[in-house]
Amino acid sequence: MIVSRDCFPESLHTMTTPATPTRQTLLDAYFGEYGGQFVPEILLPALDELERAYVEALEDPTFKQELNDLYTNYLGRPTPITECANLPLEGQGRGTARIFLKREDLVHGGAHKGNQTIGQALLAKRLGKTRLIAETGAGQHGTAIAMVAALFGMKCTVYMGAKDVARQQPNVYRMRLMGAEVVAVDEQSGNGLSSAIDVAINDWVNNLEDTHYLLGTAAGPHPFPTLVKRFHSVISRESREQMLERTGALPDAVVACVGGGSNAIGAFAQYLEDQPGNDTVRLIGVEPAGYGLDTDLNGAPIHEGRTTHLHGSNSYALLDEDGNLRNSHSVSAGLDYPGVGPEHAYLKDTGRAEYVGATDAEALQAFRMLSRYEGIIPALESSHALAHALKMAAEATEPINILVNLSGRGDKDVDYVRQLLGDHAALDPATDVLTEVDVLGVLEELTPQGVTA
Ligand SMILES: Cc1ncc(COP(=O)(O)O)c(C=O)c1O
Repeated sequence: MIVSRDCFPESLHTMTTPATPTRQTLLDAYFGEYGGQFVPEILLPALDELERAYVEALEDPTFKQELNDLYTNYLGRPTPITECANLPLEGQGRGTARIFLKREDLVHGGAHKGNQTIGQALLAKRLGKTRLIAETGAGQHGTAIAMVAALFGMKCTVYMGAKDVARQQPNVYRMRLMGAEVVAVDEQSGNGLSSAIDVAINDWVNNLEDTHYLLGTAAGPHPFPTLVKRFHSVISRESREQMLERTGALPDAVVACVGGGSNAIGAFAQYLEDQPGNDTVRLIGVEPAGYGLDTDLNGAPIHEGRTTHLHGSNSYALLDEDGNLRNSHSVSAGLDYPGVGPEHAYLKDTGRAEYVGATDAEALQAFRMLSRYEGIIPALESSHALAHALKMAAEATEPINILVNLSGRGDKDVDYVRQLLGDHAALDPATDVLTEVDVLGVLEELTPQGVTA
């Protein structure tokens, strides 16, 4: 079955209902001017209920104990840090740059997504909800929510763009194996992940009583960006200690890919705190530059620098000349989103974090390099972060320790990459450097309309 978001009221497409400026929330709903709750009235009680449950849970030792127990014994935390021992770091910096990977690809489920999915599912349980729903792009969040729904005995529906269903088939099957219903969303009228969010929100509006909408990234209306960050901050809590222990110092730079922004905000969180040495750590978010930042075929809303209300919060988004939301493009389904979480907008404006781009071809090249030289197949999303780290290493003029958040593993991408690159798999990526790739052509061949979940 493929559902269309066009069967839902226009007002919900971007959730642009103005926030009431005087509205009281328990926690600050804004990061500077970004964030807020730009949602239809009907959703406000559900957001308040969630915020209250979150605030109470943080004060409850049983909740913390349960969460930590699941982190350790279900997700397999802490995840290790692996230093890249073999990657040829070409150019001026050869020998002076060290690249470390924070191995979120080893979290049960294959990506960082489980960290916050477990947290939100525990909150849903406290609220007496019996059904979880979510959007997914790469299918990693969908996999994580299917996992926790199976664990907690809850019903589960996952919405996914039809093109993403086609390019992330292994994850679609995994979700179904774990009992989730996967619904393909028609993308004629918009981008896959974005359309999936629209449809998930409409499901939520109609089923508030028993359903929790488990938003998969650090975006959306308050309190989602705040609680998603909190549950993912375990990444940087671990990495800060691990880097100190391993190298005797904090990393010079933390690099993470940015879709909606959840793995990046988790990887940055502890370095944003007022702690010794933190101000010397560069925080670098890598947006998907697609066919190039100077084209319309990318997913880099921060680079574009225009703001609007999207999916319930005020933040940067990709807009056309008339100010309408335009489609994003990325080789990786998980970064193919026209918006970004509000805290990243704030960190960009304040200058505390830097945001750069990596193209489809650069990400695929990094994907090949890590596979060939370290025996680690990264997710295409994470490959964007690695691509930038490789650039930094090549340009480094003095010793530099770069920590890359390896947000997920690439099993889900292997078949898709085979279709994109064909025989390139057998060639040495260090000498056979990939400079362009026909992502759009391959995506068209995958004929999403013919693929159903
Ligand atoms: C492995 C992986 N990394 C990164 C992302 C991007 O999401 P976010 O920016 O919320 O971390 C996704 C999304 O599906 C993903 O699967």
